[in-house]
Amino acid sequence: MAKEIVLTGITTSGTPHLGNYVGAIRPAIATSLQANVESYFFLADYHALIKCQDPERVKQSRLEIAATWLACGLDPEKVTFYRQSDIPEVAELNWLLTCVTAKGLMNRAHAYKAAVDINVEAEQDSDFGVNMGLFCYPVLMAADILAFNAHKVPVGRDQIQHIEMARDIAGRFNHIFKDNFVLPEAVVDEDTPLLKGLDGRKMSKSYNNTIPLFEGEKKLKKAINKINTNLLEPGEPKDPNDSTVFDIYSAFATPEQKEEMRQKFLDGIAWGEAKKELFALVNNELAEAREKYQTLMANPQRIEDILQAGAVRARTRAKLIVTSARQAMGLVSFS
Ligand code: TRP
Repeated sequence: MAKEIVLTGITTSGTPHLGNYVGAIRPAIATSLQANVESYFFLADYHALIKCQDPERVKQSRLEIAATWLACGLDPEKVTFYRQSDIPEVAELNWLLTCVTAKGLMNRAHAYKAAVDINVEAEQDSDFGVNMGLFCYPVLMAADILAFNAHKVPVGRDQIQHIEMARDIAGRFNHIFKDNFVLPEAVVDEDTPLLKGLDGRKMSKSYNNTIPLFEGEKKLKKAINKINTNLLEPGEPKDPNDSTVFDIYSAFATPEQKEEMRQKFLDGIAWGEAKKELFALVNNELAEAREKYQTLMANPQRIEDILQAGAVRARTRAKLIVTSARQAMGLVSFS
């Protein structure tokens, strides 16, 4: 039987932090190492253009994110790893799908609606600052997925609607023309922890509460020391269920380590001591990958070669599927 195709995209904005590592990078790489799947991971750099018009940042973020995934153990022999913008078939399919997508469907997309809500709230024109990239974002995402006829698409909860839209668009195409596309399914991992940030809210760049992933031991230690705690003194029992330190510790600990730390909290471990142990645990998991990351960042050509090889492999598959879609729509040769 043909292997199941698993595909996911990583929007190349910003620099990866510990929350991205725990919530997305680590679980996705673990899944990709399973034998019974064929994985496609790509840098969604076309999507990055929707929000970022600073070419230097676009360039830097793609490089950092590629290096991060490779350093964390993504095996380019096992996973087809490529840049979205290196696959002309994706841009081509984007247009073909645009022509079968109802505008009304796009009106309902969360990201667009959120932008409109903010404008209405501010008593501005409802489409102020909204470019067509944002409005049509789900079509491009459908093209990413359908160009490969992916069966499973691992994503965060916020992306489920987009996968449902990709299914809708695929169904519509299949109905009008011919059965060309697999109807993709979102896979949401309920077990992966949503990591808390320095202030106890979800770790996110937009809250400015992140812990850096590969910026060196010193910065890691410094960030961990900044995690909010309460004023309980050493010796006073602390509640592990209401502690960001314990929360982050748990995301890196074995079940035994977690139990030991829980007991230490109840026994009144000092905050300074708990943070020291947290640093040691996290640093131990990241040290080797950090070194690989630095080596890769110093050698962008190596990353380029990996991505180019990935693009060749990816295009082999995408070409077949997109050519068949073109033909189904009547874009055929006259001879
Ligand atoms: N929009 C996704 C995100 O922000 C990234 C993405 C782009 C994606 N294209 C995709 C994810 C296709 C899965 C499949 O997380």
